[in-house]
This record gives sequence, C-alpha cells and structure tokens, in this order.
Amino acid sequence: MFLKKISIINYKNFASKTFEFDAKINCFVGDNGVGKTNVLDAIYYLSNTKGYFNSVASQNIRHGEDFFVIDGEYLKDDRIENINCSLKKGLKKVIKRNGKEYEKLSEHIGFLPLVIISPSDSNLIVEGSDLRRKFMDSIISLNDKDYLQSLLKYNKVISQRNSLLKYFAANHTFDSVNIEIYNEQLIKYGTELYNKRKDFINEFKIIFKSRYEHIINNSKNENYSEKVSLLYKTQLDRNDFNNLLKENLERDRILQFSSVGVHKDDLIFKINGYPIKKIGSQGQQKSFLIALKLAQFDFIKKHTKLTPILLLDDIFDKLDEKRVAQLIDLVNEANFGQLFISDTHADRTEKLIKITKQTYKMFVLE
Ligand SMILES: Nc1ncnc2c1ncn2[C@@H]1O[C@H](COP(=O)(O)OP(=O)(O)O)[C@@H](O)[C@H]1O
Ligand SMILES: [Mg+2]
Repeated sequence: MFLKKISIINYKNFASKTFEFDAKINCFVGDNGVGKTNVLDAIYYLSNTKGYFNSVASQNIRHGEDFFVIDGEYLKDDRIENINCSLKKGLKKVIKRNGKEYEKLSEHIGFLPLVIISPSDSNLIVEGSDLRRKFMDSIISLNDKDYLQSLLKYNKVISQRNSLLKYFAANHTFDSVNIEIYNEQLIKYGTELYNKRKDFINEFKIIFKSRYEHIINNSKNENYSEKVSLLYKTQLDRNDFNNLLKENLERDRILQFSSVGVHKDDLIFKINGYPIKKIGSQGQQKSFLIALKLAQFDFIKKHTKLTPILLLDDIFDKLDEKRVAQLIDLVNEANFGQLFISDTHADRTEKLIKITKQTYKMFVLE
C-alpha cells in the first residue's frame, strides 16, 4: 500500500499543490516554516480523517479562504483508491472513498494505517492522561471496529451522565433510576474497553521493550542496562466497576461529573522503575518515544496485515546522524513500506537516503 499522489487546496499554508510520490522514500526539505510539517499533516489527514496537530478542523483552512480539499490517490492491493477529504466553513467534514461519501468517518479508520513520529510526540510524556489514552485507543481501534464503537458509546454515556448530574445539582433533585440506567451502560461498554486495553498492553509492552532495547543497544558501546516498562493504570484493577460507581456516587453528585471509570485510565511510562517524565534524560525520552511509535508500527502491521505508511517529521530533532542512519536503514528491512521524511537540510538527508539503495524523491519546498 502506498500514496501515489496528493493534491492539496487551501490546507494550512498551501494554496494549491500536487505531489507525485515514490513508492518507498519521499523527503520534504526546506527552511523552517515552508510547510514541510503541513504536507505530512495532510497525508496524516487522509488516513485519520483529521489532522495530527490541530484538533479544531476549521483552523486547518488556509487563512482568508473558506474551504480546504485534500485528495489522495493510493495503490492498495493492486487497486487505485481515491480518498478525498474536504471541509467548508460552517459545514461538516466530508470524506469520500472513490467518490462515495462515508456515512460515518469512523468507517474509514484503519483503511490506510499510518504512524507518525514528530517532535510534538513529547506531549505523550509531559501532558495529561488524555493523550496516552488516545494513543492506546487509536491503535486498538485500527483492527477492532467493535472497540471503537464501544468507546464512542461509552464517551457519549459519560457526557449524558454528567449532564444529568449537573441537572440534579441545579434543580436540587435526584433520581437513582436514571443514574442506574447510565451506570448499566457504562459497565457494559467500560468493562469491554478495560478488558481489551489490558490485553492490548500485555502484548504491546513486549513489542515496545524489544524496540527500546534495539535502539539502546545500537547506540551504546558498553553493556548498558536500562529497563523500561509500560503499565496500564486503571481504577478497575482495584475494584469492580459497579462498586466503584456506587461508592463514588455521592462524590459525583458533589463534583457534578463522573469521577470514576475507564475514562480516567492512564499509561505509565517508566525507566529503571521511575517515571520517565521525572527522571528520563532528553535522550532517553526521545528513544522511549521512538520505541513507542515503532512498536505501534509493528503492532498495527501484525494485526491488520497492512504495512503502515511512516511519517518522520523533523528527523534530526530526535536523533543524531548515527541514529537517523539506523532508522532509515530499517526501511531496507523488508518489513517497512512507504516513508515520508522532513528535514531542514537537503544534503544530509539525501546522503543518508542514498545509503539505503532504495528509490526516493526529494521535494524542495520554498
Ligand atoms: N491555516 C493556515 N493558513 C495559512 N498558513 C498557515 C495555516 N496554518 C499554518 N500556517 C503556516 O504554515 C507555516 C508552518 O508550516 P510548517 O509545515 O509547520 O513548516 P515547517 O516546514 O517548518 O514544518 C507557518 O508559516 C504558518 O503560519
Ligand atoms: Mg516542521
């Protein structure tokens, strides 16, 4: 599977631009601010029905315009697949596959799997649990449509239950029957999410560790030991969901929101037993993030039987020359597919890519 061609109209800083890609390696080079990350984001959009960097869809429209279109042509299973994403101000987003509009955007998720490694990944370590849940959810959802549906339903019930709690507080009233209806649904969907997340982490952490060790061993000469771990943290481990909801009902009524459940789950990243956020050096954090993303790549590939497209934004931000060379070398392994790279320096990127003996294309942005 690979992206043959993309046409971008009014997306971020691009007025109108078409790129025809190599099936293996493609590099966007140019000074800061020319739009390298924006092209990668447009490619991300075609796979994920949204941008990676800006959750407010309309902010992706080029300033002064009132719509954007991203059109991509892929070759997948020997067939041409056309994906067209468009947004007009004030209207809902439209995603079409071969001219036919998806009724639900979620139907498209997993069709063209993609993994992005970008400087902003550090948010996964430094920010709140929300991003880590999203990371986990996005991987599981790719090959489990039921999971995605349960997640959407669970989130909807949480927001309905929260509205009800607010209504009770505002009107000095309470009705346990209504709360109970929501609790039953939360337990149904929440338990499913809990079980699937637990299974996922059990498998994922092994892939992750092996990726991390690979990165570390290749960059350290001496026999260096760094133990990393990935833990699934959830309130449901300590208590049955039904009990949790009952025990916290009074608290929820005071807080006017649902304070317990899998919407509070987190992933804990540790190095040598301590949180990487607190004690990890810059280099360790970067290696950790790359290992997470490569593990995401491996996991998706194993479960969907599709080789994800890999986006490496600002590769030298995370890695020194030797590690970039290693990473690019991975492309030579048969298990990698199409790769998009961005960098400020054309020469150093091209020098490294030539070593791979793969076909490639350079795009100089101005
Ligand atoms: N909605 C938008 N409309 C117009 N320009 C935008 C929009 N969003 C971002 N940009 C511009 O895109 C440029 C940044 O592009 P980016 O892809 O991040 O550059 P880089 O090549 O450094 O990765 C900035 O100049 C920014 O102003
Ligand atoms: Mg950039």
